[in-house]
Amino acid sequence: MDYAQFIQQQIEAIRNTVGEALAINALSGGVDSAVVTVLGYRALGDRLKTFFVDNALMRHGEPESVVGTFAEMGIPVELIDARLEFLDALRGLHDPEEKRQAITETFYRKVFARLVQQTGAKFLLHGTILTDIEETVAGIKRQHNILSQLGIDPEKQYGYKVIEPLQTLRKDDVRQVARTLGLPPQVVSRIPFPGPALAARIVGEVTPQRLETVRAATAIVEEELADSGAFQYLAVLLGDKATGIRDGKREYGQIIVVRCIHSTDARTATIVELPWEKLHRICQRITAIPGVNRCLYDLTPKPPATVEYV
Ligand code: XMP
Repeated sequence: MDYAQFIQQQIEAIRNTVGEALAINALSGGVDSAVVTVLGYRALGDRLKTFFVDNALMRHGEPESVVGTFAEMGIPVELIDARLEFLDALRGLHDPEEKRQAITETFYRKVFARLVQQTGAKFLLHGTILTDIEETVAGIKRQHNILSQLGIDPEKQYGYKVIEPLQTLRKDDVRQVARTLGLPPQVVSRIPFPGPALAARIVGEVTPQRLETVRAATAIVEEELADSGAFQYLAVLLGDKATGIRDGKREYGQIIVVRCIHSTDARTATIVELPWEKLHRICQRITAIPGVNRCLYDLTPKPPATVEYV
C-alpha cells in the first residue's frame, strides 16, 4: 500500500466533502483519532475544530498530555469537561451493552450534538477502522463509534454527517499512515485503548471510586509492562469480591485482572509469557491499592475471550 498516496487521497476527499463548511472531530489520543485529526487539519486548517472530551473514563493525566502533544504539533485541541454527564449516564448500569450504549448516546447525541450546534459544523470526522466495522456487523461487540453500520443515520438522528477516512484500514496500516504523517513515536506506537476507555475495564457499575481503583491499577500495569514489547496490556476490575487478610483482619476486597497480549490487529490474540518476577512485582503493587486484595493474570487467548472485559 502506498501510504503517501492514501494520505493525499483522503485529504482531497475530506476537502471535497466538507466544501466551505466546518467539521469537528474528537481526539482521544489513540492512533486512529490522532491520524484523523492530522488528516482533517491538513485538509481544512482552522475549519476543523478538534475536541478532547474528558468523559471521566480516561487514564491518569491523559486529557492534559494528549492536548499538550497536539499543541506541540501546532494543532489546537479544546478540552471539554463532560465528566458528570458520562458518570450520570452510567450510574446504575451493569450490563456491558447497556454501558456501551450509554457512552455512545452521551458522546453522539449529547456532547457532539451540542458541539455541532455551538460550532455550526456540518460534519464529524471519525476514526472508525475496518476491524471496528467487521466486529460490530458480525455481532461480536458494539464498538462505541459505529453508527451507520448499525442502521443509525447520524444526520437524521444527531444532525451531522459522518466522514470515516480510515474505514478501509486495519491497525497496522493506521500506524504506517501515522508514521508517514510524521506523528511523534508515542502516538504512532501507543498501545490500543478502547473508545469506552476504562468503562471497558470495569465489570459491573462504573462509579468514581471504582474508576479510581482501575485507574491506579492501569498506571501500574502500563509502567511495569512498557518495555514488554506486547501489543496491549491492561488492568480490569472485576464485579465480584474476595476474602483476604489485611493488617491481621479479614477484608472483603476487590479483584484486579492483568492482561498482556501479543497480536497484530486485535482480531486474535495470544498471551505473553511474562517472567514470574515481573508478575510478582505487579501483584505486589496492585494489592497495595486500597481495597484490592487479589491480582490475577489472565491466560485466555482471543478467541474464546475478547481483549477487553466489557
Ligand atoms: P476486543 O475486546 O473486542 O478488543 O477483543 C479488540 C481491540 O479493540 C479495542 N476496543 C475498542 N476500541 N472502541 C475502540 O475504539 C471500542 O469500543 C473498543 N472495544 C475494544 C481493544 O482495546 C482491543 O485492542
